[in-house]
Amino acid sequence: MKNFKDYKNNDKKENLKLESIVVHGANGVDPYTGSLSYPIYQTATFKHPSIEDRTNYNYARCINPTREELERTMCILEDGERGFAVNSGMAAVSLVFSLLKKGDHIILSDDIYGGTVRCVDEVLNPIGIESNRIDLRNLDLLKSTIKENTKMIFIETPSNPMMRVADIKAICDIAHNIGALVVVDNTFLTPYFQRPLTLGADIVLHSGTKYLGGHNDVLAGVVVVKDESIGDKLEIQMYINGAGLGPMDSWILLRGIKTLALRMKKHEENAIKVANFLRNHEHIEEVYFVGFEDHSDYETTKKQSTGFGGMISFRVDNMENVNKILNKIKLITFAESLGGVESLITHPISRTHTEVSEEVRNELGITDTLLRLSVGIEDADDIINDLKQALE
Ligand SMILES: Cc1ncc(COP(=O)(O)O)c(C=O)c1O
Repeated sequence: MKNFKDYKNNDKKENLKLESIVVHGANGVDPYTGSLSYPIYQTATFKHPSIEDRTNYNYARCINPTREELERTMCILEDGERGFAVNSGMAAVSLVFSLLKKGDHIILSDDIYGGTVRCVDEVLNPIGIESNRIDLRNLDLLKSTIKENTKMIFIETPSNPMMRVADIKAICDIAHNIGALVVVDNTFLTPYFQRPLTLGADIVLHSGTKYLGGHNDVLAGVVVVKDESIGDKLEIQMYINGAGLGPMDSWILLRGIKTLALRMKKHEENAIKVANFLRNHEHIEEVYFVGFEDHSDYETTKKQSTGFGGMISFRVDNMENVNKILNKIKLITFAESLGGVESLITHPISRTHTEVSEEVRNELGITDTLLRLSVGIEDADDIINDLKQALE
């Protein structure tokens, strides 16, 4: 088998647009049989030819061809050198945090997924890793928060759930001056709309459970890095923690990725319509959508992303109407998660962001009347009509 470098240097892939790469993946066709669907190598171990001869494969916790195909595909999509597919987005976050050690300091976006907050509070802080969560749009604040021991800056952009946009390149310039790594959680926009490694970031990660998988049927996480030495450290860590994604789930993710471009276009097209509907509704006080030209971070979005994605948060005028929406919707589902073909709505304060302190929630505006909508790929008018009838 060719090794990964051969695929990366493959002229055919280099000249292809992202829409084509997602369909064909890294290897695409099984090199041994020609099977168009990449095989699910459902095995725990691999036969050694002899003591002297080795193949690339030894034991499935360390390497599995189906997972490898997914990791290579993600490297091409994110323009990275090494990829790691793990069994949830939180496993991806934990894998990246394993690069930190006692005495280090990490700065994170203040508006961030609650599970990441929990990991910082419950795992990093107790073992002596310091942290600050700040508004990473404020570069002066970032500069004044940096300490001698700052080793990592962790950005979630657009942020969850307030849809703030941090300037990835500007943060990288500041971080790299002091030798800190920049990590971007790219779950919301995916490489179809945003490629952080091309903007200078060192590490990009995903909850693959969301848009990459795209069908609300698999839990997965992905990490992609540019630097081989960081890749080596993560590889060892993955051997140790055993978090590698199983072959079946790797295949499901690979299949989801084939339609990533199509789905992201439709999510965005629908989100623009739904956001405009909500904005003009008498019971909606505010809509947070990065695609609005008057969004405070619109210029940053235009500079670093090629689209707006499908996520919207909005503030309802009172709890009675929040309950009406959550109880009366028929097409949209009240459920956690996002990024699937089905429209899902959640109530961040009681579901996804319970780990965030009340003080921070109040500061950010995560109140009991805030809802977060992951706009699916159904007909946009059907989604709008569902919200309309629920609010009647
Ligand atoms: C932005 C973001 N990052 C990471 C995660 C964690 O992913 P998972 O649920 O796959 O562990 C989530 C989950 O909602 C998320 O929204």
